[in-house]
Amino acid sequence: MNRGIMGEQTQQSQLQSPELTLNDKTCTAIPQVGFGTFQIPPEDTQRAVEEALEIGYRHIDTAAAYYNEQQVGDALRATGMAGKVWVTTKLRNCDQGYDAARVAFDESRRKLGVDVIDMYLIHWPFPAAGFYEETWRALLRLRDEGAIRVPGVSNFLPEHLRAIIEDSGEAPAVNQVEVHPRFNQPGLRAYCKAHGIAVEAYSPLGHGKDIMSDPVQAAAAAHGVTAGQVVLRWHTQEGRIVIPKSKHVERMRENLVAGLGAGAAEGGFDLTPAELAAIDALDDPHANVSADPATFTHSQSWADQHVRGNI
Ligand SMILES: NC(=O)c1ccc[n+]([C@@H]2O[C@H](COP(=O)([O-])OP(=O)(O)OC[C@H]3O[C@@H](n4cnc5c(N)ncnc54)[C@H](OP(=O)(O)O)[C@@H]3O)[C@@H](O)[C@H]2O)c1
Repeated sequence: MNRGIMGEQTQQSQLQSPELTLNDKTCTAIPQVGFGTFQIPPEDTQRAVEEALEIGYRHIDTAAAYYNEQQVGDALRATGMAGKVWVTTKLRNCDQGYDAARVAFDESRRKLGVDVIDMYLIHWPFPAAGFYEETWRALLRLRDEGAIRVPGVSNFLPEHLRAIIEDSGEAPAVNQVEVHPRFNQPGLRAYCKAHGIAVEAYSPLGHGKDIMSDPVQAAAAAHGVTAGQVVLRWHTQEGRIVIPKSKHVERMRENLVAGLGAGAAEGGFDLTPAELAAIDALDDPHANVSADPATFTHSQSWADQHVRGNI
């Protein structure tokens, strides 16, 4: 997939993320390094996304629950990139259910200003509501209608993946989940691998904290790169999609460079098998920075869920 280059900036050399081929029906290629927009305030989002696009990001991650889809769409419209870069957005918990999901999808599509959403994820399984299986069927229908290129899920544990596979007969191509050195979820990753599901790592830097660990610092010194780049290269070498977020242009750039291998110009590098293994070994099943998907029910408009009778 070559999604073109921003009009005036075609003259400049831009960084480019490598792509991963997904295991969906059409073997879609996704840029492996995307730009995360969680907790970028709406008033800063358009600028941040425009900067990311200018640097060379061709994959933007947002969600209805981030309340910045409109501003992501504004950036796409202002740069002429709507429909030319990969955009992922997510369905809020309160919009789960077959019919509700279709309504929410249309609202996201309107805000983003695109006809087709590249990837649409169920944000959380929200098992307490009991709607995620029918919601998954709604996403598959939207895919069959041509409105979504790749339907997927987020925060799904093996039990939730198993349920939707049994119910619909189809596994998602992507599960966006929390993965970073100190919480790298080997069991969930193995389940995904066995079912051909690509893992997209959210909070890939552990909110910037995991970069302080010894093996990460040692590899950074050995390769002459930053600790953040070591962590992101660990992800990409192990085959994960990553969506780091930064408000700072220099970090945005260094994070995108970290997707490149040693063969690339622009400062790419490869970690050794021993360095990869040392980072894997940092795993601590209690070091998550986000919620437990088995029990996460609040937030994302709890009040809305009440009004809709979901809970
Ligand atoms: N599906 C879900 O439930 C879910 C949940 C959480 C996140 N996400 C997605 O994943 C994206 C990324 O996750 P995240 O924002 O939680 O965490 P993250 O990307 O792991 O970490 C972001 C933090 O790290 C800092 N940072 C960024 N690049 C750095 C670098 N090179 N060196 C040192 N520090 C660096 C940032 O600070 P500065 O901004 O100051 O640079 C920010 O404080 C989100 O934006 C969102 O799109 C999805």
